[in-house]
Amino acid sequence: MKNIVILISGGGSNMAAIVQTAQRDDWARRFGARIAAVVANKATAPGLALAHAQGIATSVVAHQAFANADDPRAAFDTALATAIDRYEPTLVLLAGFMRILTPAFVQHYEGRLINIHPSLLPAFAGLKTHQRALEAGCRFVGATVHRVTPELDHGPILGQVVVPVLPGDTAQSLAERVLTQEHRLYPRVVAELLAEPA
Ligand code: GRF
Repeated sequence: MKNIVILISGGGSNMAAIVQTAQRDDWARRFGARIAAVVANKATAPGLALAHAQGIATSVVAHQAFANADDPRAAFDTALATAIDRYEPTLVLLAGFMRILTPAFVQHYEGRLINIHPSLLPAFAGLKTHQRALEAGCRFVGATVHRVTPELDHGPILGQVVVPVLPGDTAQSLAERVLTQEHRLYPRVVAELLAEPA
């Protein structure tokens, strides 16, 4: 069985979209794949309850617990990798996971670590993507699914979706429209990856 582990920090709507698609399209039969676990860096991440309700294993590796370590980022990433590696994942999906990962962590999951970012990369890596796109006068925004490399939001692009900017759009209205499209894009790209020969 190909195990998929999804990392979240918040609402988990992309995670939920992937879980729903995996059930609807029977990824177990088609690809021999399952969502093995959802891991959050905050116990309060609303997506945890959603995953739990679907019968998916959940765990929390709280980054704040490592604040006093000699190297908090490295200590957190080591604990996170331990929680993930229990499932021997084929894919590790970042879905609204709001922590910058160390190069060592990224290397450990080379070829297996995927992210979704709410902009048309390479434009607007980092935060506040929709606000920055509006300020730049963009006529189109969107989202990108990409492989994760040590440089933030810079890995090879696996899929994108384009969303037009409409008169009167705000960062909030754009975020909502893009998120709806993310829910289609991310499961589609993951299915493509699962369909690839091993
Ligand atoms: C999405 O817009 C994702 O692209 C970004 O954070 C948001 C997460 O939303 N990285 P959710 O937690 O999947 O609902």
